[in-house]
Amino acid sequence: MGAKVVLLGRDRERLEVTREAMLDSSDHLLYAVDLTDYDGVDAVVKDAVAKAGKLHGVIHSAGISTTLPLKLVTPDKMDLFFRTNVYGAINLTKQVTRKAVMADSGGSIVFISSVMGAVGETGKTLYSLTKGALISASKSLAIELAPRCIRVNCVAPGVVETPMSANAVYSQDEQLLNRIKSCHPLGLGRAEDVANSCVFLFSDAARWITGTTLFVDGGYTAR
Ligand SMILES: NC(=O)c1ccc[n+]([C@@H]2O[C@H](COP(=O)([O-])OP(=O)(O)OC[C@H]3O[C@@H](n4cnc5c(N)ncnc54)[C@H](OP(=O)(O)O)[C@@H]3O)[C@@H](O)[C@H]2O)c1
Repeated sequence: MGAKVVLLGRDRERLEVTREAMLDSSDHLLYAVDLTDYDGVDAVVKDAVAKAGKLHGVIHSAGISTTLPLKLVTPDKMDLFFRTNVYGAINLTKQVTRKAVMADSGGSIVFISSVMGAVGETGKTLYSLTKGALISASKSLAIELAPRCIRVNCVAPGVVETPMSANAVYSQDEQLLNRIKSCHPLGLGRAEDVANSCVFLFSDAARWITGTTLFVDGGYTAR
């Protein structure tokens, strides 16, 4: 859409592949960083602003998923999931909303939550906890940051065909996969479906939208 993009993730090769797939690929910056390494994120954000100028929007999409019965949920697993899916998002938001980083005219922050942040499913307690936390946090952040015209929203996808869903338990079993498909009246989603909703939330067309969650789920939560 013509933006200059800064890509963050741990795996440099995957970031390179993503950058190569983008228009004007040499315009975009990439940094291999673990979002749970808070000092590392601070340094990357400072470097990106020095090279590309102040930011107008940030999408936090990094996440891990699992299907785990309650009896297998442990404190260590809860720590890991919260560190990656929630604390990493809040720390990134803290870094990117500093006055020296976010454009003076304001900006748009989008957290990629999930339908599991709003509705339930067997074995999804751990994942739902973290995705629901993003929905809750976006509301208070929206109020806190509104005076600076920084909008904060979530996108909550249903099942999207990505490496995450390909590795999920339901993708290993035809019957389970058919059940998951049948929960999505419009079929499973594509990464572009989620990306397009982020483009909308970044645009001026969404100038009066903050603290809300856009469900992009092929009808999953319409039932
Ligand atoms: N696919 C679905 O069906 C679905 C449905 C609802 C919501 N979502 C959400 O959508 C988001 C993207 O999921 P996806 O399907 O694209 O999953 P994916 O293919 O597994 O990608 C996850 C991404 O998160 C990055 N990541 C994970 N931990 C990180 C960390 N500590 N630091 C930096 N980057 C990290 C990974 O990059 P590296 O490995 O390179 O670090 C990878 O790019 C997630 O938040 C997920 O919960 C997905």
